[in-house]
Amino acid sequence: KRHLISAADLTRDDAVLILDTAEEMARVADRPIKKLPTLRGRTVVNLFFEDSTRTRISFEAAAKRLSADVINFSAKGSSVSKGESLKDTALTLEAMGADAVVIRHHDSGAPHRLATSGWIGGSVVNAGDGTHEHPTQALLDAFTMRRRLTGGEGHDLSGRHITIVGDVLHSRVARSNVHLLSTLGARVTLVAPPTLVPVGIGSWPCEVSYALDPVLTKSDAVMMLRVQRERMKDAFFPTEREYARRYGLDGERMARMPEHALVMHPGPMNRGMEITAEVADSPRCTAVEQVTNGVSIRMAVLYLLLGGSEPAVTTVPAART
Ligand code: CP
Repeated sequence: KRHLISAADLTRDDAVLILDTAEEMARVADRPIKKLPTLRGRTVVNLFFEDSTRTRISFEAAAKRLSADVINFSAKGSSVSKGESLKDTALTLEAMGADAVVIRHHDSGAPHRLATSGWIGGSVVNAGDGTHEHPTQALLDAFTMRRRLTGGEGHDLSGRHITIVGDVLHSRVARSNVHLLSTLGARVTLVAPPTLVPVGIGSWPCEVSYALDPVLTKSDAVMMLRVQRERMKDAFFPTEREYARRYGLDGERMARMPEHALVMHPGPMNRGMEITAEVADSPRCTAVEQVTNGVSIRMAVLYLLLGGSEPAVTTVPAART
């Protein structure tokens, strides 16, 4: 495949290949010299129209660890603020020879537009578009779950029950995770107040519950979503206090989860809203581990899109110095 736009586009074999390649990349990160020459001479552009901490930094770290040249473009402070279009921005990047464009955009569908427009010749990677998808987040989440809940490499998530809780309506992370986790064989339950459930959820490959407590005890991982106040035009129901009481994960609820079950959060977290500080800082919460795993996943994605004509298992050891 030339682009990564949607987790829904990935077959089970595609997903397992990316996860297994990321395991190879994680072994590189454990070495004293963390760099591979694999993408030397290639240029990766991080094109961010929306704020980001984790995704932008980890794509930059991933590209640099593969020896690519990296250009970081942020809409703030660029000619986008003077009204320049996505097309003219893309043509400018193409003129500079971008081999891959990693794009985050507030409009759902912007990465798809970039990939199909002919404005650029390189690969397009979706780093989060509106409320649509965030495929590398779902991949790093699946990588974390596979490592913690299964035998790791070569495995999928068959038989595991993953619960995703909160503001599903505005969450590209939830949509990408539902598709990827179901492709990998997991059972997925979404838990949200009725006002934060998207129209058309019936066609998603998952179950839906309006109550958190009955699902907690049956979950192998509980993924808390950020309440995205910036995407809400009107006051959302319930009140923040009521939301935290009914849908927030606190120490008392966490204690009712199975002993092996993980607490996950994509970040950034609203401490005191969807998750208490006690839970966020507990050893069961994988939020920081997810960030570490994000670099390995993004190395794997860039490697497979730009340099992956040979299997990573032969290429990576050959590149050892
Ligand atoms: N999880 C995530 O996408 O975080 P950022 O918005 O900081 O990139």
